[in-house]
Amino acid sequence: MNIKEVSKIENEEEQVSAIYNIFNESSRLSTKATQVEFLTTVRQVEKYLKPGMKILDLGAGTGEYSLYFSKKGFEVTAIELVEKHVKQIEDKISKDISLEVFQGNAINLSMIKDKSYDIVLCFGPLYHLKKNEDKLTCIKEVKRVSTDNAKMFFAFISNDMVITTEAMCYDPNFLKGDEYNHETFKVVDFPFVFHTVDDCRKLLKDSNLEVCGEVATDGLSELLADKINVMDDESYNSWLNYHFYCCEKPEFLGASNHLLFIAEK
Ligand SMILES: C[S@@+](CC[C@H](N)C(=O)[O-])C[C@H]1O[C@@H](n2cnc3c(N)ncnc32)[C@H](O)[C@@H]1O
Repeated sequence: MNIKEVSKIENEEEQVSAIYNIFNESSRLSTKATQVEFLTTVRQVEKYLKPGMKILDLGAGTGEYSLYFSKKGFEVTAIELVEKHVKQIEDKISKDISLEVFQGNAINLSMIKDKSYDIVLCFGPLYHLKKNEDKLTCIKEVKRVSTDNAKMFFAFISNDMVITTEAMCYDPNFLKGDEYNHETFKVVDFPFVFHTVDDCRKLLKDSNLEVCGEVATDGLSELLADKINVMDDESYNSWLNYHFYCCEKPEFLGASNHLLFIAEK
């Protein structure tokens, strides 16, 4: 099935599965440039992580974060919509880690009791849920299963940066095309769903959550991938340090492909 055929699938869960038959999630975070997103996110989570905390990873993909934290000794539950991804996580579980995986949808976590997790990672569902009511239901579920002192982490794909990246990295004719509204600059929500910084703030405010951190997760990494990927380790580590310095500055927030919002009750 090609991407045009996938765009016509009406059932949203089926469409997400079909999208990941085209995009290979298992290798997404495997380059120096794409690792910036992973390393920045882990660094933010580790600011709040304390021994014994329980972690829920919603939209766990092929398990990058679940495996990382379970290998550090944390008890992790991964929930993932796409069956293929669930199997890929299961294949990587070893006996010495505490990681359970369920296939499920982040808008219905009825299998989880209220106030069960200290850290909830929601790095995926809000890349795909199209309807505002579904986004709010997902955030409500995250809030419900979080303990009173929990930190909730929400990742979004930035509408405004995607236009630059598409035009400069992938399709020189993108700006002439109809994949975005030429007046509002809203990008068509397919194959992913895009949010401006203000959209993210509004969703969390409407969910009665307090935002305690806003992070430009990967900054210009996708745009500069060719340059970052050929850096030697010393230069790369210096680039990472500089990125960590920039990524929490409000003036860098819009110029990032991924946005990370940290929230509490
Ligand atoms: C781009 S991947 C990110 C995976 C991983 N969390 C990461 O950040 O590397 C998005 C994942 O979210 C999953 N997903 C999308 N919508 C979902 C939903 N409503 N409930 C659960 N998982 C969902 C997709 O199947 C996909 O594996």
